[in-house]
Amino acid sequence: MLDPYPIPGDTAEILLTAEQIATRVGELGRQIATDYAGNNPLLVAIMKGSTPFVADLMRAIEAPVELDVMCVSSYGDDTQSSGVVKIVKDLDVAAADRHVILVEDIIDSGLTMRFLLEHLEAQGPASLAACSLLAREGQQAPGVRVDYLGFEIPPTFVVGYGLDARQQYRNLPYVAAYTGP
Ligand code: IMP
Ligand code: MG
Repeated sequence: MLDPYPIPGDTAEILLTAEQIATRVGELGRQIATDYAGNNPLLVAIMKGSTPFVADLMRAIEAPVELDVMCVSSYGDDTQSSGVVKIVKDLDVAAADRHVILVEDIIDSGLTMRFLLEHLEAQGPASLAACSLLAREGQQAPGVRVDYLGFEIPPTFVVGYGLDARQQYRNLPYVAAYTGP
């Protein structure tokens, strides 16, 4: 059964169903498996928002792959970007000479992704790519790039499939527009 969860009161509509997400994540996994054949890439999941995405993505990559996680805080508990990115937990393994793929939930201004790309680039990876489930249309600062993108979404705050509003709704199996406080 798809999308068995009722839409909570703070959300307006489902923007991406569980089925749409699964289809797209499967495509991204196949693309990454092809692009990185023989290279044993290191997926670096940015916690906590990319938790369900990276869990599904890594299983869609039918090739050797490693996983590490970083914890950053950028938004705090607000729905407005603070513009400040703080690394709460860094990588466990060395990124040097590895084929690194950063895995994010959403690129809004892109400041978080840009900061993390610079942070990892400084460690001398063999290659460095950015993968994000979502990007908000037309909001990115200049020079922000994403190599593997799931979906572009309209300029509305969203929750579900890892994305939160004040730590709630990460467990929704779909992505929905958030209309709460
Ligand atoms: P950026 O630095 O402006 O690109 O913001 C990226 C980060 O802000 C993401 O990693 C999310 O944690 C958070 N974020 C941005 N938009 C949303 C949203 O619509 N819902 C939930 N979190 C969001
Ligand atoms: Mg995040």
